[in-house]
Amino acid sequence: MTAVASIADAAVARLCAAGCSRDDARRDVGVLARSILQWSLADWLARSSTEAPADFATILDALVVRRARHEPVAYLLGEKEFYGRPYRVTRHTLIPRSETEGLVDVTLAWLRERVEGAPRPAHVVDVGTGSGCIAITLALETATSGAMISATDISADALDTARENALRLGADTVHFYLGHLLADVVLPVDVIVSNPPYVPSLDRPSMQPDVTEYEPPTALFGGDDGLDVIRQLIPEARRSLAAGGALIMEVGISQADAIAGLLEAAGFAGVERHADLQGIARVIVAHL
Ligand SMILES: C[S@@+](CC[C@H](N)C(=O)[O-])C[C@H]1O[C@@H](n2cnc3c(N)ncnc32)[C@H](O)[C@@H]1O
Repeated sequence: MTAVASIADAAVARLCAAGCSRDDARRDVGVLARSILQWSLADWLARSSTEAPADFATILDALVVRRARHEPVAYLLGEKEFYGRPYRVTRHTLIPRSETEGLVDVTLAWLRERVEGAPRPAHVVDVGTGSGCIAITLALETATSGAMISATDISADALDTARENALRLGADTVHFYLGHLLADVVLPVDVIVSNPPYVPSLDRPSMQPDVTEYEPPTALFGGDDGLDVIRQLIPEARRSLAAGGALIMEVGISQADAIAGLLEAAGFAGVERHADLQGIARVIVAHL
């Protein structure tokens, strides 16, 4: 008999030989193996010394070969968790990041404050929805408020995945639009939320191949300084937001000052910065 653990150990050794740290290799092999076996973490701890199913080694080996070439685990699994829910991801969608949950938290707090005394339910637009993780989370977390959630993306393939995620997760009220920035969304808009492509193209050579060789460049890069899409979004948001509305964006490390300057120059009255756990401003809220 060949135990699950000994097949997993061989897979860890293979990833280490390809340059992975032992900790990362053990974590990745554990996640891949549990997904193949449909095991919980408790199963993994209790059952690793049992005999492996016939095709386990072959399937794990194929995934480990791809992982050794830096393909992210989320693409190997076709799934990534965001705000406690599983999202389908493909090579056309950015893999949702945990820091983007902070953008959702700030947006939910803004919506909760607005509800008191608001003349009508809010209309929220997620610009650059990718897998749909922001729009779908907002729809599910505000389901009882009557908020209308729209989402746009310039990538038709990403939008297909976002629509699929919305159906799978029970957020079929989200309206999806294909196009540039706000595309053809219905006005008025009360909140524009966006995790735009903001990575400076000049940073590309120093980035992990897991990101640069696999995630879609249109989802990552915003020109030399990373601000190209944001420079276009700010005036469009200014024109589209209803009185009292807000533009809420995730921004890159050290971009907050430059973006606050662009927002003030465009006529936004107030700009708030929200810091992450390291004290770095990663979310900006601009009020009219
Ligand atoms: C950083 S990803 C964010 C994806 C998702 N919202 C998330 O947080 O995981 C940026 C997204 O913006 C889309 N995008 C890039 N340029 C755009 C544009 N001009 N108009 C609309 N969407 C755009 C990309 O296709 C990509 O899906």
